[in-house]
Amino acid sequence: IEVLSVTSEIYPLIKTGGLADVAGALPAALSKNGVSMRTLVPGYPAVKAKMGPSREVYYFADLFGVEARLFAGRAGGLDIIMLDAPALYDRPGNPYVGPEGWDWPDNWKRFAALSWVASELGLGLVEGYRPHIIHAHDWQAGLVPAYVKYGPSSTLKTVMTVHNMAFQGTFGSDIFGQLRLPPHAFSLEGVEYYGGVGYLKSGVECADVVTTVSPTYAAEIRTPDFGMGLDGLLNNRSETVFGVLNGIDMDAWNPSTDQSLRSTYSVNSLGSRNLNKAAVQEAFGLEPSNGPLFAVVSRLTWQKGIDLLAGCIELLVSHGAQLAVLGSGEAELENAIRAASVAHPGRVGLVTGYNEQLSHLLQGGADVIVVPSRFEPCGLTQLYALRYGCVPLVSRVGGLNDTVIDANVAALQAEVATGVQFAPPSQDGLANAIRRTLALYADEKSWKKMQRRGMKSDVSWETSAARYAQLYASLIGLKLDDDQ
Ligand code: ADP
Ligand code: GLC
Repeated sequence: IEVLSVTSEIYPLIKTGGLADVAGALPAALSKNGVSMRTLVPGYPAVKAKMGPSREVYYFADLFGVEARLFAGRAGGLDIIMLDAPALYDRPGNPYVGPEGWDWPDNWKRFAALSWVASELGLGLVEGYRPHIIHAHDWQAGLVPAYVKYGPSSTLKTVMTVHNMAFQGTFGSDIFGQLRLPPHAFSLEGVEYYGGVGYLKSGVECADVVTTVSPTYAAEIRTPDFGMGLDGLLNNRSETVFGVLNGIDMDAWNPSTDQSLRSTYSVNSLGSRNLNKAAVQEAFGLEPSNGPLFAVVSRLTWQKGIDLLAGCIELLVSHGAQLAVLGSGEAELENAIRAASVAHPGRVGLVTGYNEQLSHLLQGGADVIVVPSRFEPCGLTQLYALRYGCVPLVSRVGGLNDTVIDANVAALQAEVATGVQFAPPSQDGLANAIRRTLALYADEKSWKKMQRRGMKSDVSWETSAARYAQLYASLIGLKLDDDQ
C-alpha cells in the first residue's frame, strides 16, 4: 500500500510538538506492515538545510500566485517530498508565527498550497508515483480531503488525523475564491464553517476516515466540552471515526543508548539515573539533593495546565521536592514559573526555549514528570517518561487516561500501577496527586517496582501501526494477513 503523508512538521527536520514525532516515526513503523509512506512537507529553511541529495520532480510557475518546485529525496532517514515555495515558506523561526508571535497572515495560502499539491500528487502529478491514500495531519493538511472529494479521482482515498481539536485553521469566507475549489464546495458538506472556511472542519467532513490519537480523545471529542464545535459532525459520522493511540520511536528514545544522557541505564541499573539527576540539577541551577525531582517538558499553555502546576510549587518545595521546567509559551505562565525559581533558588529551575537534548536528560534524570493537561489528545511526554523510568503524574484525560495506570490501592495490590492520575484537572486535584506521589516515592522499594513496570509497558508503535495499516487496507478494499 502506497500512502502519502502530509504534515507541516516532521522530526528530525522540523518540530514544534508531538505531531512532528508522530509524523517522523510512522513511516518506519508502517513499513513493517507492508505500507510504503512518503511524506510531503513544506520547504522551511530548517527542512531545506537537512535535505540530502534530492531531485526536482516538478515545477509550478504559478502555485497560488507563487513559483514553486517539488524535490524528492531522503532526509533524516525519511522519504521526503519537499514543497519548495520560497515566497510561502522561506521564513525564519517557527513554521506558523512571525517574530512578533502573530500567525502569518497568509497561513491560509501557505497550507492550502500544501494540501492542493498533495491532492495533485495523489492524481499522479509526478510520473512513476501514485499513492493509493493520502493521510492528512491536522488543520494544515485539512483541505486535502476537500481537494480530493471535489477533484476528478474516485479511487484516491483520504485519512484525516486530528492531533488537536484546539487548532482548527479557520479563515474568512473571502479566501474561498482563491482556494481552487468549485463554488459548491462552500457548503455544509464542504469547507464552509460558521460562514467562513474551516480547514480542520473540512478535513473531518470530507475524509473517508477520521482518526485521532487516542481512544479516550476519540470519545471525548464527540462531546461539546472537547469537540470545540466539531462534536456534532463527528457524531454524524461516528462509524468512521477511530482512536489510534500514538507510540514512540523506540530507538530515538532508548535509555540504554541515549547519547543525551550523562549515564545510560536499563531496567536493571536504575541506580545510574542518579548521575542524570545530578546533570539535570546542574543544568537547571538546582542544588544537589536526593529528594524527589519533578520535571515538566511542555509547551507552557492553558491546555497543558501549567497554571495549575504553578499554584502547587509552594507545596512541592515545602515537602523538600525540586522542580525543573523546560518549555516556552505564554508569557504569563513563563513568568509565573520564573518568579517561583527566583523565590526558591536551588529548588525550582526554568529553562526556556526548545532543547531536544535537555528533554531527553530530564526523562532520564527526573523522578516524576508532571502532565496536568486540561485536555490531551495523546501526549507523548508521559510515554517517554514510562520508557525512561520517570514516573508520570498526569490528569485523567485523553491519551493520558489510556497510557498510565493509576497507583490506586487495587492497582498497587495487583502490581500493575505505572503512575499517578488525577481528575478533574484542578489545582486541588493536582495538589492531592502530588501528596500521593510523595507518599509513594517515600516507599523506595515499591517506587522502584513502579519505575520498572513503566519501563516494561508497551509504548511502541507496534499495535497502532498495524491498526493504521488495517484502516488503509480496508479503504482500498484489501484484506491483510492476520500476521500483518
Ligand atoms: P504537544 O504536541 O501537544 O505539544 P506532546 O506531548 O504530544 O504535546 O509532544 C510534545 C513533544 O515536544 C515531545 O516530544 C516533547 O518532548 C517535546 N517538547 C515540548 N517542549 C519542549 C522543549 N521546550 N524542548 C524540547 N522538547 C520539547
Ligand atoms: C498534539 C496533541 C498531543 C499529541 C500530539 C501528537 O500536539 O496536543 O496530545 O500527542 O499532537 O499526536
